[in-house]
Amino acid sequence: MDKLLIEGGVPLQGEIAISGAKNAALPILCAALLTREPVTLTNVPELNDVATMLKLLAQMGVKVTVEKVGAAGNEDAPPGADSPRTVGAAGNEDVPPGADSPRTVGAAGTAPLTVTLDASGLDNPVAPYELVKTMRASVLVLGPLLARCGEARVSLPGGCAIGARPVDQHLKGLAAMGAEIGVEQGYVHARATRLKGARLFTDMVTVTGTENLMMAACLAEGETVIENAAREPEVVDLANCLIAMGARISGAGTDVIRIQGVERLHGVDYRIMPDRIETGTYLCATAATGGWVRLTGAFASALDAVIDKLMDAGCEIVLERDAIRLAAPRRLKAVSIRTAPYPGFPTDMQAQFMALDAIAEGTAVIRETIFENRFMHAVELIRLGADIRIDGNTAFVQGVPRLAGATVMATDLRASASLVIAGLAAEGETLIERIYHLDRGYERMEEKLAALGGRVRRVK
Ligand code: UD1
Repeated sequence: MDKLLIEGGVPLQGEIAISGAKNAALPILCAALLTREPVTLTNVPELNDVATMLKLLAQMGVKVTVEKVGAAGNEDAPPGADSPRTVGAAGNEDVPPGADSPRTVGAAGTAPLTVTLDASGLDNPVAPYELVKTMRASVLVLGPLLARCGEARVSLPGGCAIGARPVDQHLKGLAAMGAEIGVEQGYVHARATRLKGARLFTDMVTVTGTENLMMAACLAEGETVIENAAREPEVVDLANCLIAMGARISGAGTDVIRIQGVERLHGVDYRIMPDRIETGTYLCATAATGGWVRLTGAFASALDAVIDKLMDAGCEIVLERDAIRLAAPRRLKAVSIRTAPYPGFPTDMQAQFMALDAIAEGTAVIRETIFENRFMHAVELIRLGADIRIDGNTAFVQGVPRLAGATVMATDLRASASLVIAGLAAEGETLIERIYHLDRGYERMEEKLAALGGRVRRVK
């Protein structure tokens, strides 16, 4: 199993490009199930979660073609430089995208994928346990499959490290649209000849729940209104893609989304938005090391809550049209945070801020309101010398002048990112085990950090 070896204490300096957003790419890949025509997506990040989703779609009968783009944003790469490959119905379903082709890393460190999905031969509306258990977002196929095929069998995701994370709200919404839903042998079995528009209200703000219901409603009969909808930028990106496919959606980005069902959707060429959590993570990594960075292809307005806190911590931040620059102070000031649905402070940035607070001047209070078990990074940060006390959903972090390298274990995606940040700031060597979590959601992290001068190496 791969590990990450970090020699800390070197300020990150330089410029890197931000990749496409994982949390926008995953639902948008599923949106291709809604049409018989080809959907071509650009700026798809090369991540294990994306590979899992492609595998899932391929085993349903979707033809998947993956093309590697030459360099960051360079879609004119010479033909044949990286030839298109097909997985799925006609190809090798076990190979993640790019696994057998040479890596092409742009100057700024990205090599996004162009993915074409053709769901005209969709014949197996099933999401098996083996794939769903490795990635909870697999549940995003449920709404589109039901709307397009009138039936879906999707394994229940079960628990995951950061909490129970049920899908009851997804099911409640689909039932309100007329679906018959049963749970058999760990699988949700949903059926509906044609879904009917309805007024839906979710008990809490749920991102993938909103996305699942919005996709299902696109092909339903009549109008669906989703109240208490998630306002995350990734929901808006999905809505924009669906609208470009012929869906009639208004209100995405607010807490009331209206969808007028249509008979069919058509194919589309669509570019995935930049990853705001990746952006926030590199801003934090730079802040922790006292360096400076320019992140290109970033979408600053989706990061207001994070940028605000970084400025409170003493960082200088300049927003350009599609880039963000940060210069860190000599020592950060502690900042308290409370996670909340968008536009509040994202739970996906909580762990990274705990790493910053661990070395900042002063005391911070971090309150996690979205997931019940999302402080597992705290015990690992303590191994590096952090002073953190947990009480329920609240962490009290007393900043220390320095951390010291040690062996730590990654427990989930964003927890891993916080350990990388702490390792970069710590004196000496930090070895992070189980970095497969990082590969799920960060495209070539060690290469991007190396491009900024970070001493980071993947070891087997
Ligand atoms: C998405 C993101 C994830 C992020 C999270 C919160 C993707 C692929 N993942 O996850 O990175 O951390 O939003 O911003 O976009 N809940 C229920 N019942 C449901 C649905 C949710 O009780 O049917 C609860 C969850 O357990 C959690 C809260 O609602 O406590 C929010 O979860 P949700 O927004 O659904 O998270 P995900 O969509 O899974």
